[in-house]
Order: sequence, then structure tokens, then C-alpha cells
Amino acid sequence: MKEKKIAVLTSGGDSPGMNAAIRSIVRVGIDNGLKVYGVRCGYKGLFEGDYCRLYSKDVADKIMLGGTFLETSRFPGLYEDDIQAEVARKVKEFGFGAVFVIGGNGSLRGAHALSAHGMSSIVLPGSIDNDIAGTEISIGVDTALNTILFAVDRIKDTASSHERTFIVEVMGRHSGWLALMGAIATGADEAIIPECTFDLDALVKKIEKRREDGKKNTIILVAEGAMSGTVLMEKLQGKIPYEVRLTILGHIQRGGSPTAYDRILASRLGRYAVEQYMMGNRNILVGFSGIVQTVLPLERVVNMVKPASTEDLKTVRYLSL
Ligand code: F6P
Repeated sequence: MKEKKIAVLTSGGDSPGMNAAIRSIVRVGIDNGLKVYGVRCGYKGLFEGDYCRLYSKDVADKIMLGGTFLETSRFPGLYEDDIQAEVARKVKEFGFGAVFVIGGNGSLRGAHALSAHGMSSIVLPGSIDNDIAGTEISIGVDTALNTILFAVDRIKDTASSHERTFIVEVMGRHSGWLALMGAIATGADEAIIPECTFDLDALVKKIEKRREDGKKNTIILVAEGAMSGTVLMEKLQGKIPYEVRLTILGHIQRGGSPTAYDRILASRLGRYAVEQYMMGNRNILVGFSGIVQTVLPLERVVNMVKPASTEDLKTVRYLSL
């Protein structure tokens, strides 16, 4: 017998598209005969019993909103075993068959820890850092990346007008994904990421070589987890005779209306998460890993008809309820 009550919460750093995911869980859940409850402020709200019933109308006009209307928090208390036991006990008392957690690695670890105390969860990856293993992409990543593009494109204009070297610090505590992809997509000249050793001399040589080649500006994206932009600027200033400027993008990257990609991703993951719940699956991360490079001869492709995604039609229909 499946539990009819489920809870949804957002946890850790917010990411654009979380509202779309909540909307999807609520509407697909209701369509599957579930009573859906929204927990305020992440695990903290679960601990404090701060939740309320969500109906279809409560998630209307939310898909385009950044942030999370359920609000979120970082709840260090969850590292403690007795708090975990208390949270799991309350979830049982409230009668939630599972808690749908939308969040990043910390939230995922929290869900895993709670499973040892008997709480069931289904985790949806939501973090701009794109550092969650087990999924190719997470909710919010695309919007954050587009925000970086928007900013760096503008920085490039002024960098080129003034022949300056610009450092742009982007988010990514443990992951250089945003810095790397941001660099590719903006045509920036260097990305400094926590996963790779930083070589100051090589960077200086690169800037000088660019000058020799007639390229007077250089754009460097640095992931905050590799080094702060301020530290990098100090290091560089002592080594090159050219003007260096720094822009720290900060929390701008976490806000804003989600892109079409993030809305679709969040809607799909929400639907998928509820379907998994209905199938009896618990303590899982739902994700996507579909971006595989393929090479096909034209001969084969020329008469191929791209199949319509009936799965996505299901998503559209569910969410229009
Ligand atoms: O976890 C996502 C993230 O955006 C990191 O890239 C960043 O270091 C961190 O959150 C900032 O968190 P807070 O808003 O709590 O300072």
C-alpha cells in the first residue's frame, strides 16, 4: 500500500527552475492521487514541522519565477545523528511516504543520512554548480550559464576598448563546470578551475603571447573554488605590466527567471520523480544522462524521421492539469 502523502522541499543554495520542479511534483502527484505538502525552508522546516498542503492552484504562475517559493536554507543541524533521527521520526508521524528533495550535493547527503533512520526520499538535482554525480545536468545550471554569458559578453566589449585583462569570478565551490563551460561559450581565453593545478607562469606567458599576436585583451574565468578573483588579480598584477580588472559575478548567477531549458528539465524531472515514487522506488536520485556524441552517415540520416517525444507530451499534459 503506497503512502498517499508526500512532501516536497528545496534545500541548500537555490537554483532557477526549482519552482518549475515543485510545480511538476505537485501537479503530477495530485494526478496520481497523492496529497502533496510543501515544506518551507528545506530540512529546517521538516525538523520544525513547517509545512502546508499544496494544491494545483498554489503552483500556478510559478514556472517563470527564479528562486524557490518554498524558500530554502542550509541546515547544519542535519549533520547530527540525533537531529536526523528526530527529522525521520517526524516525517513518519506526519505520514509522508517520501520527501522529494530538490537540491545539491549537501541535500543529497542529507537525504542519504536520513534514509538510515528510515526516511524515504527522492532527490532531484538542483544546483547551479553542476557538480552532482549521477546526472549530466542539474536544475538551474543552464540559467546560471546564460547569466555568465550575458555578463562576459559585456565585459568583453569594455575589455577590448581599454585593452585590459579581465578576471571574472564565477561560482563553483568544488566544481569548475560553470567556469569551463562559460569560457567555452563566451570565447574567454582561460578558465581556472578547482580540478586542475593553477600555473601562474603559464597564464602570464599566455597573456604576453596574446599581446604579441595583436590580441590586446584577455578574459579569464576563475571558479571561486579554485581561487578568489582578488587573489588572482594580486598575483597577476605583480607579473604583467598591463591593466587588470576584476568582476565578481556572485549571487547574480543564482537568480533570474529560468531559461526554457531549465523549465523543461525541471518539469520532466518532477514528473519522472513522481512516477518513480508510484513504482515504489525510494532513496534515489533522478537525473539525466543523455548527451552522448553520435556520428551517423548522411545516407542513414537523410530519410530518417525524428520521432516525436511522447514522453514529453505526457509532461505537457500532466502539467496543464
Ligand atoms: O552550492 C551552490 C553555490 O552557489 C556555490 O557555488 C557557492 O559557493 C555557494 O552556493 C554560495 O552559497 P551561499 O549563498 O549560502 O553563500
